[in-house]
Amino acid sequence: MKPKTIPIYLIGLLLAIGAALFLLAPAQAQLRMLGPANTGHETLACVDCHEAAVGTARQQIQANVRHLLGMREEPVAFQHEDVTSQDCLACHERPNDNHPIFRFNEPRFAEARAEIGANDCISCHLEHQGQRVTIEPTYCSNCHEDLILKNDPLDIPHDTLVATEQWASCLGCHDFHGNHLREVPTTFEQRLPEAKILEYFAGAESPYAAEKITPAQKTR
Ligand code: HEC
Ligand code: HEC
Ligand code: HEC
Ligand code: HEC
Ligand code: HEC
Repeated sequence: MKPKTIPIYLIGLLLAIGAALFLLAPAQAQLRMLGPANTGHETLACVDCHEAAVGTARQQIQANVRHLLGMREEPVAFQHEDVTSQDCLACHERPNDNHPIFRFNEPRFAEARAEIGANDCISCHLEHQGQRVTIEPTYCSNCHEDLILKNDPLDIPHDTLVATEQWASCLGCHDFHGNHLREVPTTFEQRLPEAKILEYFAGAESPYAAEKITPAQKTR
C-alpha cells in the first residue's frame, strides 16, 4: 500500500464513523431516558405502537430541511408516527367499555378534556412508566359532581359521598372501564382501600377480578 493513500482512507473512515455516531447518539440517549414498559406490555414489539412514518428516511430529512428553510409549512414525522389512541384500540377495543373515549369528544365534556384529557388513552396510561395507570384516582369528580341515584342501593348514598368529597372511594367499588367480571359492593365497608387501588395502578395484580369480559387481543 502506498503511504500517501492511508490518511485519505482514514479520514474517510473517521468521517463515516462520526456521521454514524452523530445520527445514532440522540436516538439512543432518548431510548435510555425512557422508563420500562407498562404493565402487560413487556413482550410487545415497538412497532405494535410505533408505526413507521410515511416515506424513506431521506425523504423525511429533505422535507424537514425544507421546513427549516421556510420552504414547507409543516414538518413531517421522522421514522415513526406519534402513538394515538387508535393504536391502543387495535388491541383494547371493548364493546362493553363504561367510559369509551369517543363519548368524551362531545361538547359537554370540553372541560373534562382540558382538565384530564378524558378522550385520550395516554392521559391516564402514560407509556414507558413501568405502571398500569398514571392519573390520580380522584379524577371522577370531573364528571360526576351532580350524581344522584333514584333508588340508591348504598348504605352511604352516592349524593352523600359526593357532598363529602369521597372521590377516592369511587374506584374502591367501581372499575373505570367495567371490564372485570365482578359484582359491585353495596356497603362502604366493603370497598377497596385507596392503598390497594394505588398498588394496582402501579402494576400489582387486579384487586377487582382476575377474569375480564374482553381480554386484550389484536383485532386490526
Ligand atoms: C404500548 C405501546 C408502546 C410500545 C409497545 C412502545 N411504545 Fe414507545 N411510546 C409509546 C407512547 C404512547 C409514547 C409517547 C409519545 C408518543 O405518543 O409518541 C412513546 C414514546 C416513545 C419515545 C419517545 C419519543 C417519541 O416518539 O415521542 C421513544 C424513543 C419510544 N417510545 C421508543 C420505543 C421503543 C424503542 C419501543 C420498543 C422497545 C417502544 N417505544 C415500545 C407507546 C409505546
Ligand atoms: C399489540 C397489542 C397492544 C397494543 C397496541 C396495546 N396494548 Fe395494552 N396490552 C396488551 C396486552 C396483550 C396486555 C396484557 C394482557 C392484558 O392485560 O389484557 C396489555 C395490557 C395493558 C394494560 C394493563 C391491563 C391489565 O389489566 O393489567 C393497560 C392499562 C394497557 N394495556 C393500555 C394500553 C394503552 C394505553 C395502549 C396504547 C398506548 C396499549 N395498551 C396498546 C396489548 C396491547
Ligand atoms: C380518564 C382516565 C382513563 C382513560 C382516558 C383511559 N383509561 Fe384505561 N383505565 C383507567 C383506570 C383508572 C383504570 C383502572 C380501573 C379499571 O381496571 O377499570 C384503567 C384500566 C385499564 C385497563 C385494564 C382493565 C381493562 O379494562 O382491561 C386497560 C386495558 C385500559 N385501561 C386501557 C385503556 C385504553 C386502551 C384507553 C383508551 C382507549 C383507556 N384505557 C383510557 C383510566 C383511564
Ligand atoms: C369524562 C367524564 C367522566 C369521568 C372522568 C368519569 N365518568 Fe363515569 N360516566 C360518565 C358518563 C358520560 C357516563 C354514562 C352515564 C350516562 O350515560 O348518563 C358514566 C357512567 C358511569 C357509571 C355507570 C356505568 C354503567 O353503565 O353501569 C359508573 C359506575 C361510573 N361512571 C363511575 C365512574 C368512576 C368511578 C369514575 C372515576 C374513576 C368516573 N366514572 C369518571 C362520565 C365520566
Ligand atoms: C360502596 C360501593 C360504592 C361506592 C363507594 C361508590 N359506588 Fe357508585 N354504585 C355502586 C353500586 C352498587 C351501584 C348500583 C349498581 C351498579 O350500577 O353497578 C352504583 C352505581 C353508580 C353509578 C350508576 C348510576 C346510574 O344511574 O345507573 C354511577 C355513575 C356511580 N355509581 C358512580 C360513583 C362515583 C362517582 C362514586 C364516588 C363518589 C361512587 N360511585 C362510589 C357502588 C358504589
